[in-house]
Amino acid sequence: MQTKILLDESHIPTHWYNVIADMPNPPSPYLGPDGKPVPPQAMLAIFPEELVKQEMSAERWIPIPEPVREALALWRPSPLHRAYRLEKALGTPAKIFFKNESVSPAGSHKPNTAVAQAYYNKQAGINRLSTETGAGQWGSSLALAGRLFGLDVRVYMVKVSYHQKPYRRSMMQTWGAEVFASPTNLTESGRRILASHPDSPGSLGIAISEAVEEAAGRKDTNYALGSVLNHVCLHQTIVGQEAKKQMEMVGEYPDVVIACCGGGSNFSGIAFPFFADKAAGKDVTLVAAEPSSCPTLTKGLYTYDFGDTAGLTPLMKMYTLGHDFMPPGIHAGGLRYHGDSALVSQLHHEGLVDAVAIPQLETFEAGVLFARTEAIIPAPESCHAIAACIREARRCTETGEPKTLLFNLSGHGHFDMSSYDRYFSGELEDYEYPAEAIADSLAHLPKVAAA
Ligand SMILES: Cc1ncc(COP(=O)(O)O)c(C=O)c1O
Repeated sequence: MQTKILLDESHIPTHWYNVIADMPNPPSPYLGPDGKPVPPQAMLAIFPEELVKQEMSAERWIPIPEPVREALALWRPSPLHRAYRLEKALGTPAKIFFKNESVSPAGSHKPNTAVAQAYYNKQAGINRLSTETGAGQWGSSLALAGRLFGLDVRVYMVKVSYHQKPYRRSMMQTWGAEVFASPTNLTESGRRILASHPDSPGSLGIAISEAVEEAAGRKDTNYALGSVLNHVCLHQTIVGQEAKKQMEMVGEYPDVVIACCGGGSNFSGIAFPFFADKAAGKDVTLVAAEPSSCPTLTKGLYTYDFGDTAGLTPLMKMYTLGHDFMPPGIHAGGLRYHGDSALVSQLHHEGLVDAVAIPQLETFEAGVLFARTEAIIPAPESCHAIAACIREARRCTETGEPKTLLFNLSGHGHFDMSSYDRYFSGELEDYEYPAEAIADSLAHLPKVAAA
């Protein structure tokens, strides 16, 4: 009975896997405000050339630079666990495995791409990065990566999370980053929101606008995004590659792969390497789990929309709830995003990726059961994957099917204890599906969407 399946450092992947090579249809291009595809040069205003190349690449395998592998070796390979105790508590015939991304210094999968992005920016002569963060996991990760590669980092942190998770801010400051509660008065995008909504709790869409605006307006500063974009999803594929090898070591292969989905990089990271097998005919189900109060894949429209609230980003074809949709202040801040990765969206649209929406209380119930059986206190975002996995395991109990389930534990919840406190004191609620707000926001989709 093996609980943890471990790889040594020589097994840190040498290449990232690019799912575009195996997708049945090429991805829809990013469009400018004129409705024409955005030329790669336009992205060079805020991204280094190597990342722009990766964003557009259709190469199946992209080599990981050695300094990035060396930085990854600080915590990778991450363990794969067999959740025997959770299986027992559920009385399920299913075998449950989870990949443990909570072991990174920032506590989630996010540093996997942060170190790559910091490296390529430094190589391109950039010394300063601006970014947004929802729950604080991405901001912490970029703060760490900036420190490792010698870049200054400024983080616009969604206001509701800034107050819910004050120690995330301290963590970013410890690694040397500057942190502001977004919306701020520092940018035009922030000032515009504050003028109309002085009490705005912020959103990832607003924080992205602020960080992009700053990078676009300063020569010394580039922008770094923690999710959504193709190159970010690409960098996360080391998670699924390792997991595949680890499952192989114990003679297993998953029937179902599950991950929570905010902007989609966490899901891509574990699921895309398995998608390669699915594209080759293997029967494997890939499930993205999202909050029912921000149900992008399950209730959004598949259309062109902006990636941010102010409309500064290119238009991306994706599932969206509308770029000015303000998700309820749920405690899984990293999942409060109106859109989704174009790659995940397209695969979902083509029926190759499934999605489930889960109410907040069910996610915390799952997280607490997980903590009490498997010992690790999960991040509220990761609780969505755990809840989806528990639903699947319970279905196996009903049908008697001994399926093999794999989920990504995207992060720990050590800085999210105020959310757990509120759950224990009965203060957390299940938000109604915000139908009216979503309909309202979808009415403001950019014109090209209708074309
Ligand atoms: C712990 C954790 N899991 C998952 C996510 C969602 O990640 P993604 O945007 O890659 O879907 C986040 C985002 O902040 C996170 O912090």
